[in-house]
Amino acid sequence: MKAVVIYEAGGPEKLIYTDVPKPEMKEGWSLIKIQAFGINHSEIFTRKGQSPSVKFPRILGIECVGVIEESEVYPKGQQIISIMGEMGRAFDGGYAEYTLLPNEQIYPIESDLPLETLAAFPETCYTAYGSMLNLNIDEGNSVLVRGATSGVGVAFMKLLKAQYPNIRITGTSRKEKKVQRLIDEGFDEVVIDKDNALQTDKKFDRVIDLIGPAALRDTFLHMNPNSIVCCTGLLGGIWALPEFDPLEDMPPDSYLTSFHSGNVTAAKMQAIIDYIKEHKVDIKAEKVFALNEVPKSHENLESADSF
Ligand SMILES: NC(=O)c1ccc[n+]([C@@H]2O[C@H](COP(=O)([O-])OP(=O)(O)OC[C@H]3O[C@@H](n4cnc5c(N)ncnc54)[C@H](OP(=O)(O)O)[C@@H]3O)[C@@H](O)[C@H]2O)c1
Repeated sequence: MKAVVIYEAGGPEKLIYTDVPKPEMKEGWSLIKIQAFGINHSEIFTRKGQSPSVKFPRILGIECVGVIEESEVYPKGQQIISIMGEMGRAFDGGYAEYTLLPNEQIYPIESDLPLETLAAFPETCYTAYGSMLNLNIDEGNSVLVRGATSGVGVAFMKLLKAQYPNIRITGTSRKEKKVQRLIDEGFDEVVIDKDNALQTDKKFDRVIDLIGPAALRDTFLHMNPNSIVCCTGLLGGIWALPEFDPLEDMPPDSYLTSFHSGNVTAAKMQAIIDYIKEHKVDIKAEKVFALNEVPKSHENLESADSF
């Protein structure tokens, strides 16, 4: 089969499109014929060698949409989604025509959505949806998406606007030239994030923070009483908040939560698919690449113009 293999850490050119043996069935696992997958920021970290537990050579890819090719548990042809669970990390992942997955991380789905929409689901929409639920949002809240031009950021805004068309959502970017694009996508306002400091005095009721610990203390300065921040992303490249003192650092009467896409069940995955259908959420891949264009897709995601 064709696959994209990484043999050593480095730039996108280290992702090699090549022939490899089709995975062989083993007990407790199922063979999946891959239909589509999204490209995730965490795969860029891994490609650069910033995931120390991942040993090369490896087929990366922490998610996929596909159909059952061979299984002792699921019928052939059943459409499924898979995500996380060390896929593309401890064992080979989604950048391939076929992948072998543990049965417990295969989530059968019922959907007539196009593949370009479904490909945006596993990590991007699921994470945006989980963060949205954890933020306990109502229509009167002012909402900030910190890291709004990311896949998760745009998906979060679209999911929320579909349910509450009049809710006010502010997005952030480091780049002036992305401001109009964010407005065109549906954000009500854009704030520039300069060296992890928001260029505004405004405060918000709900924040999804996709920059993470690099910016979290600054986020705390922009929270109203009774507000909630959900720390979901790590785009700032720092993984933990050093010397975090909850009593001193947290804004008064506020709440800190997080979301992790490893927390997944088939019911939750189906719930997001049903939500997107019910609310007619306009979700689709920003760009579509063929399997042999995975290096180009990484370049695109890493470029200054990425959206
Ligand atoms: N909690 C979970 O389970 C979970 C699941 C999925 C993803 N995530 C995390 O969520 C975040 C978003 O993921 P994604 O795949 O949607 O990202 P993405 O689409 O790759 O994000 C691209 C955007 O990131 C921004 N960016 C890049 N480097 C940055 C830096 N050093 N500082 C600030 N902003 C930077 C850029 O925005 P501008 O140029 O506009 O500033 C760029 O448009 C990532 O940190 C990812 O690891 C978490």
